[in-house]
Amino acid sequence: MSTLHRIAVIAGDGIGLEVMPAAIGCLDRLAELHGFSFSWNELAWGSDYYREHGRMLPVDGLETLAEHEAIFLGAVGVPDIPDVETLWGLLIPIRRQFEQYINLRPVKTLPGIVPPIRDESPIDLVIVRENNEGEYSEIGGRMYRGLPQESASQEAVFTRFGIARAARYAAELASARRRKITSATKSNGIVHTMPFWDEVVRETVAEYPEIDLRSELIDALAASLVLHPQRYDVIVASNLFGDILSDLAGALTGSIGVAPSGNLNPEGRHPSMFEPVHGSAPDIAGQGVANPIGQIWSGAMMLDALGRPAAAAHLVAAFEAALADGIRTRDLGGEASTIEMARAVTQRVEALADSYVGTRGGRP
Ligand code: NAI
Ligand code: MG
Repeated sequence: MSTLHRIAVIAGDGIGLEVMPAAIGCLDRLAELHGFSFSWNELAWGSDYYREHGRMLPVDGLETLAEHEAIFLGAVGVPDIPDVETLWGLLIPIRRQFEQYINLRPVKTLPGIVPPIRDESPIDLVIVRENNEGEYSEIGGRMYRGLPQESASQEAVFTRFGIARAARYAAELASARRRKITSATKSNGIVHTMPFWDEVVRETVAEYPEIDLRSELIDALAASLVLHPQRYDVIVASNLFGDILSDLAGALTGSIGVAPSGNLNPEGRHPSMFEPVHGSAPDIAGQGVANPIGQIWSGAMMLDALGRPAAAAHLVAAFEAALADGIRTRDLGGEASTIEMARAVTQRVEALADSYVGTRGGRP
């Protein structure tokens, strides 16, 4: 394995510009201790680029990104540009072009963070969201704009190939965890795509007899996830259902500011992209108070994908230790700034080095 990892960095907008340098600082120190390094190619793509050029990415932007091992993204979106431009101009083309067909979102109770719904037992689940097709389709249109008969339609697209690969990823993941998969469905109301989803998920997971598969209707699942998050291990869901469930699950653990995600091309044919679940948070941008943990944890997921599990586990242990010591940003009821939080993580990266450097990952 090369000791230099070439990473494309898109800090984006708002707090993306604050949490990204904070996370890079922790990652650089961590890498130094583990004997490798990053080459960060910082790309100033985002809303300012859009204002100047009328697009989110340069024409050859995807080719530029393809030259990297991974993409590290902050957040994009500003109040004065429609979100559809930022989403379809940047995030969705990257997810599709690089076949990042899995969106992986771990949800875990962190030390010292009190969840909004009190329950002593810890939450530890992972949402596997299908990230390339489903409800986020380009098929459809608007007719009779501005007239009384104006209408809009949009077709969801589900393929056997797309569903099966998401279900297989979920099954592999569940095999290494508590061997339980919950599949989010709505086959009682959405009568073509969702029964098909159920069928293909069932067939695929049947190849893993040790796995307990359960289908739950998305509305009931949302309610149950709020009341009993401890019951879930791996949740596999379509693009839209997975999107909604993962914000919900993120909020359950205390703050959206800590939730990480990976947009994965599991075969590694294309770069994967790692980003916090939160957005650009215009309400707190520029104040230096954003929580950098979501970005840092996304960096840990990136290390795993780069084949650096010991460094990944080391980084997770470091931010958990900082939180356990009571260092927290405002969203978690603390007073630390973005930079202070990141500095506390870096200090614990140094303090914990002996337990992780030269190991193969996992907890010491
Ligand atoms: P948001 O996640 O930016 O903010 C929601 C709430 O959570 C706000 O009150 C914010 O202050 C708080 N928050 C979020 N991250 C935080 C952090 N790290 N530390 C402390 N507090 C934090 O979602 P919102 O307001 O719906 O969207 C704002 C913009 O971000 C929109 O333009 C949206 O399209 C975009 N967005 C971009 C995403 C991406 O780049 N992948 C994902 C979600 C939203
Ligand atoms: Mg979302």
